[in-house]
Amino acid sequence: MKKVRKLTSDVLILGGGLAGLYTALNIDKSKKIIIASKEPLGLSNSYLAQGGIAGELNTDEKVLAKHIEDTLIAGSGLFDKDAIKELVYDASENLKMLIDLGVPFDVDENGKILLTREGGHSTRRILHAGGDATGKNIMETLIALIKKRENVTIIENYMLYNLIMKDNVCYGGELISMDNEFCNVFASSTLLATGGIGAIYKDSTNAHGATGDGIAAAYRAGAKLRGMEFVQFHPTVFYDVIGNIKGQKFLISEAVRGEGAYLLNINGERFMQKYDKRLELAPRDVVSQSIMKEMYDTWSQYVYIDARHLGKKFLMKRFPTIYEKCLESGYHMESDLIPVAPVEHFGIGGVQIDLDGETSITNLFANGECCSSGVHGANRLASNSLLECVVFGKKIAQKINEKPESEVESWDIEISFSVNNNNYHPIREEIRETMSKYVFIVRDTEGLHLAQRIIDRHYNNLCKHPFTTVDYYRALNIATVAKLITDAAEARKESIGCHLRIN
Ligand code: SIN
Repeated sequence: MKKVRKLTSDVLILGGGLAGLYTALNIDKSKKIIIASKEPLGLSNSYLAQGGIAGELNTDEKVLAKHIEDTLIAGSGLFDKDAIKELVYDASENLKMLIDLGVPFDVDENGKILLTREGGHSTRRILHAGGDATGKNIMETLIALIKKRENVTIIENYMLYNLIMKDNVCYGGELISMDNEFCNVFASSTLLATGGIGAIYKDSTNAHGATGDGIAAAYRAGAKLRGMEFVQFHPTVFYDVIGNIKGQKFLISEAVRGEGAYLLNINGERFMQKYDKRLELAPRDVVSQSIMKEMYDTWSQYVYIDARHLGKKFLMKRFPTIYEKCLESGYHMESDLIPVAPVEHFGIGGVQIDLDGETSITNLFANGECCSSGVHGANRLASNSLLECVVFGKKIAQKINEKPESEVESWDIEISFSVNNNNYHPIREEIRETMSKYVFIVRDTEGLHLAQRIIDRHYNNLCKHPFTTVDYYRALNIATVAKLITDAAEARKESIGCHLRIN
């Protein structure tokens, strides 16, 4: 038996990205909140977001209707229209709150907010900060504010491994630290805001810890999931970094194309006109799939992004982070073509929530990349994800604020701690290889069946031989999410959005 720390709180928030912190800031200060984060605050996908946050500050009906339409078109028909309406209509109040909280969005010389475009947007409606460091600026502002909140306790370096459950009611979460210390947090309301799933692929733009912990724990607890087959691959990830450095991959933001950059194949020819009349600003699924076809036809591992005509002065000011990163690898954006290729970027599916952010489990909410609110359909419109975090974060906070005060129930949970010398690294690596080969942009029956056999073998073995260590749960969560994605991809026979089946 191992000693287990026991804590109680009104609210437990699992995850320290935008979905978690923005919700916390909207919860009444009279409620006690514990935020548990697997990484130190700041190491999240939200922090890495470059392009920006979509949303109309102008609440004219016609303007909002265009944002709804763009979101619907990008989503290819598989969305929840009511959720999209909430997303678009509630954008301005939440963007204004971010501005009031002090997020330094970029403005022109008259103080007017600057807006950009990305794929699938028919107009400029994306706010950005620090040029291409939007996530960093939002998160630094919110982290500073949350640290001042007396009702909030932050526990860093603890990951969720199981939800505390009784009769389909959630009572909090069982957490394990990176040193295998245990902590059970009991709470009247629990929010899953655990982020993405990038670590189940070999290459991803995600932060390292993105092992889909919230989705896997919710699945084990019996929560309803939705849309797991829909994984969004970002079209333009810096190929130089993919080829040379292991780990998280560097994004060349879609906003670079939004400001006028082109895509060229390795023969120096522009090609998007062959695939879509919206050219480089077609929705992300179309651009990624077109790049794959072009790479296949030219026997190449990459295409180029050409931003040379935008000029050094503009590029350095508008995209300081990207410009610097390219330079570190020897590329001058004003004179060189930048090699790029598609890479895993965003898990669209997840724990199903309703319009208040509630899951199918009582007292369990979900927000951000680990949830499926229905707004992204079969392909997410660029920069709608940070917006989803704030719109649904506010709704969840309102729902929690309405709950009457109640005694938090808690009890002792015995943990039979067992360690072994298993090396889970090869299991994780084989699953990542498999996902990147057979459950990538182009999917076929044979490949999916092969992937199912490999993943099921690991998943079943892991389930048969449980060990309560961080290393085990990392492997189990990766295997669980990979299985959920592969099974859902196998079951959906047609091509739609970012799920492309060739047979
Ligand atoms: C980007 O900057 O290209 C990423 C934006 C997003 O994923 O919404």
